[in-house]
Amino acid sequence: MTPTIPSITLHDGTSIPQLGFGVCLIPPGDTERLVSEALEAGYRHFDAAAIYGNEEGVGKAIAASGIPRDEIYVTTKLWNDRHDDAADALSESLERLGFDHVNLYLIHWPVPRQNRYVQAWEQLVELQEQGLTRSIGVSNFLPEHLDRLEMHSSVLPVVNQVELHPAFQPWKDIDAARVHGIKVQAWSPLGRGRDDLLDAPEILDVAAAHGVSPAQAVIRWHLQNGVILFPKSAHPERIRENIDVFGFELSPDEMAAITSLDEGEAGRVGEHPNEV
Ligand SMILES: NC(=O)c1ccc[n+]([C@@H]2O[C@H](COP(=O)([O-])OP(=O)(O)OC[C@H]3O[C@@H](n4cnc5c(N)ncnc54)[C@H](OP(=O)(O)O)[C@@H]3O)[C@@H](O)[C@H]2O)c1
Repeated sequence: MTPTIPSITLHDGTSIPQLGFGVCLIPPGDTERLVSEALEAGYRHFDAAAIYGNEEGVGKAIAASGIPRDEIYVTTKLWNDRHDDAADALSESLERLGFDHVNLYLIHWPVPRQNRYVQAWEQLVELQEQGLTRSIGVSNFLPEHLDRLEMHSSVLPVVNQVELHPAFQPWKDIDAARVHGIKVQAWSPLGRGRDDLLDAPEILDVAAAHGVSPAQAVIRWHLQNGVILFPKSAHPERIRENIDVFGFELSPDEMAAITSLDEGEAGRVGEHPNEV
């Protein structure tokens, strides 16, 4: 049975399925097949990016599925060397996807040493006005980067997509953005599959109590925290497993046990936003 995935309403009035499928590091030659598997499993939200090099496969799988475009949510992202050139960059992404619009377009990284992200944001505002993207947001923005956008623009991002998983939980930054209505999206929600994370006794205990896998326990923890996430897998059985998370609920103690795994900065699996 296809699962019903909850939606989250964004501050621009649109809504986004809370759980999706991320395609980072899925080889271009496998993307159409794996996105088709994901559609078959019930996913309706795909997190892509120009830099992942596989937008074509995402678009082809969606076109081949016969599912109406307006039932599927697609995000893509502006890469770091295109901050001056967002209109062309989005038009190239749309061509690769085979779409006339995306649902969400994000600035992938702020790259503060380039100091062009405010200009990039102004371009995204125009692209949204032109209907080429329904919503606009950012990724890897720290509070100081969001503050600068707020000083220069009357339009705030609907989401900030940041590294977030049990070993790295930047709640202070997330809550500062949430006050402004900016929702958080978790990238690497499974800590990139780090064995020492998914094998942590706290996670194994929670998983065993519900008869689910460690990944399913972690996905449930994110969902109950109100976070939007899109775990990636290149394996059809895991793609199905990762969406099969709506038949159980973690107790407050189980949520707290997973939250206790925060390692602070040491827990990052990706780069610090100011270093990219
Ligand atoms: N905005 C950004 O800067 C940024 C950065 C990174 C990622 N992202 C987005 O976030 C998405 C997810 O992040 P991610 O791919 O880095 O990491 P992730 O989803 O946390 O973890 C993916 C890893 O976990 C493994 N895995 C998946 N399901 C599993 C399961 N059920 N049991 C055990 N292992 C499992 C995968 O292995 P297999 O593939 O072998 O199954 C892969 O090695 C990306 O695809 C992308 O859309 C965004």
